[in-house]
Order: sequence, then structure tokens, then C-alpha cells
Amino acid sequence: MSNIAVLEIDGKKYEFPIIVGSENEVAIDIDKLRSETGAITMDPGYKNSGSCTSEITFLDGEEGILRYRGYSIEDLAEKSNFLEVSYLLIFGELPKAAELEKFENDIRKYTLVNEEMKNIIDGFPKNAHPMGVLASLTSALTAFNPKSVNVTNEKDMYEAVCKTMGKFLVIATWTYRKNMGFPLNYYDNTKGYVENFMRLMFELPTGPYKSNPVVINALDKLFILHADHEQNCSTSTVRMVGSSHAGLFASISAGVSALWGPLHGGANQAVLEMLEEIQANGGDADKYLAKAKDKEDPFRLMGFGHRVYKNFDPRAKIIKKAADEVLATLGVDDPVLTIAKKLEESALQDEYFKSRNLYPNVDFYSGIIYRALGIPTEMFTVLFAIGRLPGWIAQWKEMRINKEPIGRPRQIYTGAPLRPFVKTEDR
Ligand code: CMC
Repeated sequence: MSNIAVLEIDGKKYEFPIIVGSENEVAIDIDKLRSETGAITMDPGYKNSGSCTSEITFLDGEEGILRYRGYSIEDLAEKSNFLEVSYLLIFGELPKAAELEKFENDIRKYTLVNEEMKNIIDGFPKNAHPMGVLASLTSALTAFNPKSVNVTNEKDMYEAVCKTMGKFLVIATWTYRKNMGFPLNYYDNTKGYVENFMRLMFELPTGPYKSNPVVINALDKLFILHADHEQNCSTSTVRMVGSSHAGLFASISAGVSALWGPLHGGANQAVLEMLEEIQANGGDADKYLAKAKDKEDPFRLMGFGHRVYKNFDPRAKIIKKAADEVLATLGVDDPVLTIAKKLEESALQDEYFKSRNLYPNVDFYSGIIYRALGIPTEMFTVLFAIGRLPGWIAQWKEMRINKEPIGRPRQIYTGAPLRPFVKTEDR
């Protein structure tokens, strides 16, 4: 392939370099487009625009490939664990045993959240959405940790990573405890990160929480599967906010807000709401399947299809197995989950879904697991945020270390041309 792209505007030709990635992805470098031609490109939703080069995650939607730092998601989900994957994403290499142990211990040093944060939580109404509370609390962490991170200083950056990983998990679970009226509790430094998540959520002062290894294993996998997905909406938000040199907590808080939306992380909540609606209307899964196929009906089967994965979602394949294990181990008897199974079976055999390559995506199965674990629907997106945290940190760090310029897209103005001001009495 030629390494030059030629653009013709008004009969004049301009040449632009072509960039090729390590997996042969091709981009036309239009850095000089405006200065040389006076024109800009228009790409709402950035479907054709690369915002950066990145060494973190490779994704091929057509082939159903997802890799972190070159390691396949299948390998990582089977052989690794969430903290190891977090280290890999953030620092670039799999940690040696001693490095991983140190990382886990260093995170533990920062799991205590300032007691005054509790006053902030108390200010929220009891039924506030946990994602809104989480975004606010993450931002509030800046007030308690005002020192800005020197990204070029490895020690400083490492400390900021451990601090963020430690405190975020605790405040994320506090959003649930506040909602339930449970006393806010503390990380137990004798236990693992994912085990602590379940404890922080469900342990009551009246007795110890007994964790189930199948549950911890399924959650660990889910967090790994959600850990990064290259330049998605929330990650691009984290990079964009960070590009103004806003702090790490402020950038992550913006990422939480972006993830909240139903078109992004909020889809897992939408799956369960759909299943509950089917149940409330008599539990007829086939009726809803027919609705989803009816072009006159706007209804879509939530948890099916994907914008990027057009053949299959590699994450869904992995998590389906974990979902089956969790349901079998816990012996859950839940009519909503029975509807989910029926919907999955029927859709996988249905010509409409087969011909359009519409398979259950990661949100379909993650919703099922969360429900089986007794996690309330409104907390689903918070769990997505816990999983995505290392990805956000890794992308923020990469953006700052690469000295990327402040994100500042352009526009084409389509409003009124210059007009004279009209006095109030003359309007
Ligand atoms: N139910 C019924 N029909 C569907 C669905 C669905 N969930 N998804 C796609 N289709 C149909 C669509 O109507 C179109 O039909 P036709 O060719 O006859 O016009 C065909 O399948 C191809 O769809 P598409 O236009 O290529 O799909 P898209 O890329 O516009 O949409 C999507 C992708 C994820 C928005 C869509 O599949 C959807 O709305 N799914 C349900 C919501 C959901 O589960 N979202 C979570 C995605 S994973 C979250 C993440 O990774 O961040």
C-alpha cells in the first residue's frame, strides 16, 4: 500500500501521510489538513476518526478479537486475575509475582477513605442513583487529595494509581450501602480485591460475610472483561478531560458520568428492566421476540447486537460459561432469569437474529450474573465502572506521558450570519 493519501479540493491535490498500526490498521494523518487546505473533516460520533495512537488495547469487531497489551481476552479471563490485568493495562507488562504482591499491598495502603467523605454521602437523598453519587464522590476525592500527580515521576504516578484503585472500590460500594441504609464499612486488608467488593457490599455488623469462590471467580472475570475497550465514550471522555491537565480523580469522575448513559454502560441495567417488563406482562418471551423483529415496532431486544462486534462479542462467549456456573452453583430459582434463558435460546435459533449476526452481548450475561448475586439493578453500571477503572487510568496515563495536546474539535458553523443588535423595545 502507498504511504500517501491524495485529496483533491477544487481541482488542487494535497498529499497526506498514511499511518499503519502494528495490526495493519490504516489511518490518514490529517494533522496539516486545515493549515494546508483551510478545510476540516466532519465526522459526528467520530466513527471514522482516530483520536490517538495507543499501545493498550487492540479490538477487531469483524473478527471478534479483543486483546490487552497483546494478550488475548480469552487467555487473560482464563489464566489471570483482575489485579494482574489492571497492572498489565496500566504499566504495560504482566507483573512478576513479587511485583503483583507489592501492587496488591500498595493498593491496601490507600483503602481508607477520609471520614469526612461520609458527610458528603449523607447530603445525598437516599434514593439518588448510585452512578450520580459515585461521580460526585470520585470528584470529591480531589478535595481530600489536592496534590496533582507528576506523571513523569514513576513513584508519584504509581502512588496515584494505587490510591485510585483503593479508594474507588470503597466509595463505589458505599453508594449501595447509603441506598440500603447500611452502616458504611471498611476494606479488609487480609482479603483480596474482588472478595472485598462483595464484603463491602453485603457484610452486615451482625455477622461475617461468607464468600463463595464461584461468585468471586465470576466477578473477577467480569471485571477483566470490562477492564478496557479502547476509545469508547467514557474512555475518550477521560482522555479528553485529562488533556486539559485536569487531575486523575476529576477525569475518572467524568468517565463515570459518561458511562452512566443507557447507550453505554447503562445497557446492562436496560437488559434487566426489559426482562422484568416481560415478566410483568405475562412472561411471554416469544411475544417480545416477535416485537423485536417487527419493523413497525421500535422495540429492540436489549443485550443483543453490538456496534463494533459484528460476528460475536468475545467477552459474551467467556461470560456465558461463568453465568451458567453461577446459576447452577447458587441454585437460583428466579422467573426473570428463566425468561432470560428462554429468550437467549429462542433468539439463537431464530432466522432474523441468525441472519443479522445478533448474538447476546456481554451486557446480557453480566446482567444475569449480577441479578443472581442479589445486586440491585441500579448498581449494575457501578460494577461496570469498577471493572473499567484500570482502563481509564491506563489511558489517562498514556495520554499524559505521550504529551497529547488538549482535545479541541472544530465545527462548521451553520447559524445566522452577522446581524445588528436589536434594542428590547424594537423586537
Ligand atoms: N433487536 C432487534 N433487532 C436488532 C437489534 C436488537 N437488539 N440490534 C440490531 N437489530 C437489527 C437492526 O434493526 C437491523 O435490522 P435491518 O438490517 O433489518 O434494518 C440489523 O439488526 C442490523 O443492525 P445494525 O444497524 O447493524 O445495528 P447497530 O450497529 O445500529 O446497533 C446496537 C448496535 C448495539 C446499538 C443494537 O444492536 C442495539 O440496540 N442493541 C440493544 C442494546 C444493547 O444491548 N446495547 C449494548 C451494547 S454492548 C455495550 C458496550 O459494549 O458498551
